[in-house]
Amino acid sequence: MKHFDFNKIYEEAPGKEPERQLYFIRQVKALFKARFQFMIDSGEAKRQFGEEQIKEMLEKEIYGTFHIETYGCQMNAKDSEKLQAILNQAGLCEAESEAASFVLYNTCTVRENANQKVYGHLGFVHNLKKKNPSMLVALCGCMMQEPDVVEKIKKDYKFVDIIFGTHNIFKLAELIFNRLTEDHMTIDVWEGTTEIVEDLPSKRKYPFKSGVNIMFGCNNFCSYCIVPYVRGRERSRKPEEILREIEKLASEGVVEIMLLGQNVNSYGKTLDNPITFAQLLEQVEQIPGIERIRFMTSHPKDLSDQLIEVMKNSKKICLHLHLPMQSGSSRILKAMNRRYTKEQYLQLAEKIKKAVPGISLTTDIIVGFPGETEEDFQDTLDVVRKVRFDSAFTFIYSKRTGTPAAAMENQVPEPVVKDRFDRLLKEVQTIAGKVSGRDLHTVQKVLTEEEDSHLKGWLTGRLSNNTVVHFPGDPSLIGKITDVYLEESKGFYYMGSQVKA
Ligand code: SAH
Ligand code: SF4
Ligand code: F3S
Repeated sequence: MKHFDFNKIYEEAPGKEPERQLYFIRQVKALFKARFQFMIDSGEAKRQFGEEQIKEMLEKEIYGTFHIETYGCQMNAKDSEKLQAILNQAGLCEAESEAASFVLYNTCTVRENANQKVYGHLGFVHNLKKKNPSMLVALCGCMMQEPDVVEKIKKDYKFVDIIFGTHNIFKLAELIFNRLTEDHMTIDVWEGTTEIVEDLPSKRKYPFKSGVNIMFGCNNFCSYCIVPYVRGRERSRKPEEILREIEKLASEGVVEIMLLGQNVNSYGKTLDNPITFAQLLEQVEQIPGIERIRFMTSHPKDLSDQLIEVMKNSKKICLHLHLPMQSGSSRILKAMNRRYTKEQYLQLAEKIKKAVPGISLTTDIIVGFPGETEEDFQDTLDVVRKVRFDSAFTFIYSKRTGTPAAAMENQVPEPVVKDRFDRLLKEVQTIAGKVSGRDLHTVQKVLTEEEDSHLKGWLTGRLSNNTVVHFPGDPSLIGKITDVYLEESKGFYYMGSQVKA
């Protein structure tokens, strides 16, 4: 690539964001183009893509493919959409499988099994890379914020090209540029940041709904949780930026948004002009075109009366609240540093159900936290029975190195945890099967999401309370809200029929 003067490119790069990254996106696109031309000249492109496809790619200015594997929560899913948009603009199109020119793993480390999956994939992609040495392999996300992990990859997975963390995803194009112009692994992991880079491209999975980050990081330090260590301190985006983004999404046809943060209830506290989450919601409610508002995740300790009031009066906030309880035992909750008791959780759930009738409550529960006794576990079952959740994500406690709970002595033996987990799951499922059919034989608003994958001529959509509904209909309804009569409850979803106006 002699005709590229890399030093000059670096010198001319703007210092300010996002201009700097938009500049590197253009540079990387030129590099990918040159590589693709080289592959065409050597016959490699013909072998990989075939002549027809090469012609089509050149017409669309596409110079290769990418594949992103995303693990973990909605934050990671949102980050992957941003990364995808950068890759699209840099001249790559999405490939279904890891046989691609650029493969990226956006990792999660919240539990050990999330972490292990990535090493399995790395073994697989190594074989692909042996056959196609020009392919680039990159790793990012929460696992990369752990120094031990990066050391292990440097040592045992030398074929990896790029490693970056959770704080600098906006830099992807510059990192690819570095890797393509240097002869070694590019590693750029930041310990933390106060910077929030606005106005970078983002790509949506669905044209009609979108996640919107309202804050990053977490300050809660629940004693079992690694998130505050890998996502850094809590930082809120300015309300103006959030509202501007949502207005733009609405103008592009988005009708449903999900406001994202590890603890949305503490949104805005650290801003120069503080504002509450409830106030933000009231402003989002005013945006024309937005018909449904969801948010994730609510920490019970910060859920205010003001928020309940806003939810009660809102026409757009969905009838669903995800309220992670983690444990029903006040003693364990204290050791978890959750800062609420069993009774406070129960009172809160009651208050919300009363203020917002028909609301669906869902939760997260951990079993086998260090020191958990059968009695503590019975408290968890008790809350499950009293609140009657629509669904619950249940997790086996996973020891995360560096968190306070990992150093606690009385870790619960595996067979005991497994037994409790099975009992909890059974209880949760029995109750959920009963409560989630509560809207049977009523007409409800459904946002149609896609064609049904099993039944031809049928569609799949969601109620405001997030329950899935299948009904016969025309694909032109996708992205629109329609009235559907709920004919039959299948426990966790409904079969229905469209009610025509
Ligand atoms: N910020 C959110 C949760 C983010 S992590 C909240 O506070 O609710 C998602 C879920 O993973 C948590 O709610 C918790 O139930 C689970 N989790 C976190 N750390 C875990 C660990 N070490 N072992 C098992 N489950 C864990
Ligand atoms: Fe983890 Fe607790 Fe923060 Fe949720 S609130 S991300 S569980 S530390
Ligand atoms: Fe996992 Fe990171 Fe989310 S550790 S759960 S991807 S914040």
